[in-house]
Amino acid sequence: MKVAVLGAAGGIGQALSLLLKTQLPAGTDLALYDIAPVTPGVAKDLSHIPTAVSIEGYGKDDLGKALEGADIVLIPAGVPRKPGMDRADLFNVNAGVVKHLAEQIADVCPTACVGIITNPVNTTVAIAAEVFKAKGCYNKNKLFGVTTLDVIRAETFIAEAKGLNPADVKINVIGGHSGVTILPLLSQLGLDFSDEEIAAMTHRIQNAGTEVVEAKAGGGSATLSMGQAAARFCLSLVKALNGEEGVVECTYVDGGSEHAELFAQPVKLGKNGVEEVLPYGEISAYEQAALDGMLDTLKGDIAKGVEFVNG
Ligand code: NAD
Ligand code: LMR
Repeated sequence: MKVAVLGAAGGIGQALSLLLKTQLPAGTDLALYDIAPVTPGVAKDLSHIPTAVSIEGYGKDDLGKALEGADIVLIPAGVPRKPGMDRADLFNVNAGVVKHLAEQIADVCPTACVGIITNPVNTTVAIAAEVFKAKGCYNKNKLFGVTTLDVIRAETFIAEAKGLNPADVKINVIGGHSGVTILPLLSQLGLDFSDEEIAAMTHRIQNAGTEVVEAKAGGGSATLSMGQAAARFCLSLVKALNGEEGVVECTYVDGGSEHAELFAQPVKLGKNGVEEVLPYGEISAYEQAALDGMLDTLKGDIAKGVEFVNG
């Protein structure tokens, strides 16, 4: 198994690479690629950690080598938000970054599973899908928008509010990954929430990224919690690709949703990526209204990505 991280020298990339170096199964190859000159140094640094995961750093001219033989490619490359910005404000820079990286993936490792972290995720996943379609290698079961950060935030905030162990909180977060398109299905938890608590908790989960952006005061957005979220997603994918049964994560996929071409919902992962897109279950009237209310935004975000590639 080979895992490549593109954007590996950044805030997310370094945290993620550390977690993968220490938690991937023995025998895995980890390839770190970034245009930043420090990248070979990041790989050298991590290589001193005594695990049976081999690690190699690749500089800006060596993307092809980093991707060669990759089974999983994770993409946190691109610019993060500053206070006052929306994720959509990152489109101008990040759309081109993801398009370029997707083109190289299509040329070098077209059968790899690809997890996109770069914002705006609602749009960048659509960009990658269109690139792969144009290159004739699109496999909807192998392209994922990584929305796991919304899930781990929901687990954390709900556990805090209800005095629970976060490990015992399991929640579906559906839709997309920005503002109103993030919809945690709190009604499914069987916990006692008032209507006001539901509204406040939903709002907090939807705006948690902004909470971090403001707290970092111009120093970027979530990196460490995102590193953990992406590592969780990647390790689940590795288990499933290796044949473990019953691996389920919420993720933003082209899964035949009635709501939008790309939609985050629980997905059973298997040896070939998406094995089955699972129903997200019963939802409350409040959640139904929130779902109906997000769709124009979500579809607009997706259309922007399609338009970017196809003109
Ligand atoms: P960062 O600036 O710390 O790191 C980004 C890295 O990408 C840098 O090292 C940079 O050199 C590299 N890079 C830029 N262009 C590249 C290219 N063409 N090829 C390879 N590498 C390239 O940013 P960060 O905090 O790590 O965030 C990265 C992205 O992840 C941002 O777009 C951010 O909005 C997004 N993000 C997504 C989620 C999510 O839940 N999906 C969460 C947090 C952040
Ligand atoms: C997050 O949810 O933390 C990320 O999408 C980064 C951001 O810009 O909020």
